[in-house]
Amino acid sequence: MPSLAIIGAQWGDEGKGKITDYLAEKADGVVRFQGGNNAGHTIVIGDNVFKLHLLPSGILRKGKLAIIGNGVVVNMEDMMSEMQQIIDAGLSVDGLRISDRAHLIQNYHKKLDGAEEVYRGKKSVGTTKKGIGPAYQDKIARNGFRAGDLLEPELVKEKAEMNLPLKKDLMKMMKVDDVCQCTTEKFEEKFARWRDMFGKYICDTSVLINDMLDQGKNILFEGAQGAMLDIDHGTYPYVTSSSTVGGGICSGSGVAPNRIDDVVGCLKAYTTRVGEGPFVTELLGKEGEELQKKGGEYGVTTGRGRRCGWLDLVVAEHAARLCGFSHWAVTKLDVLNDYDTIKVCTAYEIDGEEVKHFPASLSKLERAKPIYKEFKGWKSWASSDDMVKKGYEGLPQEMKDYIKFIEDYTKIPASIISIGPKRSETIDRYGKWY
Ligand code: GDP
Ligand code: IMO
Ligand code: MG
Repeated sequence: MPSLAIIGAQWGDEGKGKITDYLAEKADGVVRFQGGNNAGHTIVIGDNVFKLHLLPSGILRKGKLAIIGNGVVVNMEDMMSEMQQIIDAGLSVDGLRISDRAHLIQNYHKKLDGAEEVYRGKKSVGTTKKGIGPAYQDKIARNGFRAGDLLEPELVKEKAEMNLPLKKDLMKMMKVDDVCQCTTEKFEEKFARWRDMFGKYICDTSVLINDMLDQGKNILFEGAQGAMLDIDHGTYPYVTSSSTVGGGICSGSGVAPNRIDDVVGCLKAYTTRVGEGPFVTELLGKEGEELQKKGGEYGVTTGRGRRCGWLDLVVAEHAARLCGFSHWAVTKLDVLNDYDTIKVCTAYEIDGEEVKHFPASLSKLERAKPIYKEFKGWKSWASSDDMVKKGYEGLPQEMKDYIKFIEDYTKIPASIISIGPKRSETIDRYGKWY
């Protein structure tokens, strides 16, 4: 059962795209199992930079299947332009497969996403406005369109007749400026266009993935967002609307828990978060700006500046417990080059008490003060390529001490070390992933 998953251990943007692409070399299929095009995964191959939102990162590797599982919410229009990016780069999209059970994002979901944010006022989540929340709301409310519906025109008509009046009323009530003028006929036309374009990629991806595993093929599950954005276990309500933790792999791709061999936690060497919500180790003012600049921390999907702060091991422990990480891929260590002192949060002080487990209460998180351990910084190196050649042992001692502390605290080995955005700027300490 050679299957491996990669999940973000913080609030997203940990470098999952880079690590997935790196590990995809030996995979036969790469599967997205939750989220939608709220994700922004950057992959740097030589001089080419790819920004993928919905397509699994395996699409960039020849001959692999890139599978969109049932737990994903799919925006077909945006996917078309993303596919074009791949085709323009001279690559093929033939390996794409879309679950017939995956739900589809409609324009009204995007509009409602924006309107809900207005209603929340000062308590807005800071969503990507891609319609993710409203699309998942419809799925749970049993009003959603699924990719498989494309193949059944009668069903599209029936669902459109039921859904459109409801959505129009809702949009009017929520004072959406530009209420969709969509009619059932226009909907049928749109679905027919999507059928021509995507029909051939739609299948039962649970059967596909399980058959591949039965045949001894290698499957890589690519998480989107991060454990702290999980709908149940994240900083609710400042979260996304899907299950981003380990359990999401099973429900979102139709594989049983005992079919997942290893889960790699993608851990950025410091912390970032986009949008609103608690962030105990956040660096405000100049310090935060400096880290944002050094790390190039600007959102891939929305272009927003990411909030930055020190590494928080209370967060890492929370994520590891929920996701069952067997390894860490520690990323962006190079960004901390040149700091004299680097801090790591090992616990919170809340109302005079030391707390080591991430609390659910937002008011507790507001009062939480980080307890830091300080590390001596390491100085930069001439070239990351040189460092990769030397291997793990060749890394600066201070960096190795930092990594060792993470390993000891979490009791999880840091098996992949990423010291630059490129595929090549990666140290795989033990190899043997499949
Ligand atoms: P994802 O959403 O988890 O895939 O991460 P993003 O792509 O949103 O953000 C990570 C950013 O850091 C991207 O610009 C990557 O190219 C870049 N990156 C990934 N790993 C490293 C690394 O080890 N060092 C540096 N300097 N950049 C990295
Ligand atoms: P990747 O996969 C970082 C955040 C948004 C917002 C919250 C809810 O690139 O790591 P949504 O649009 O999902 O309803 O927004 O979640 N968010 C992300 N933050 N990386 C992401 O994806 C994110 N996807 C959503 O900023 O705070
Ligand atoms: Mg991202």
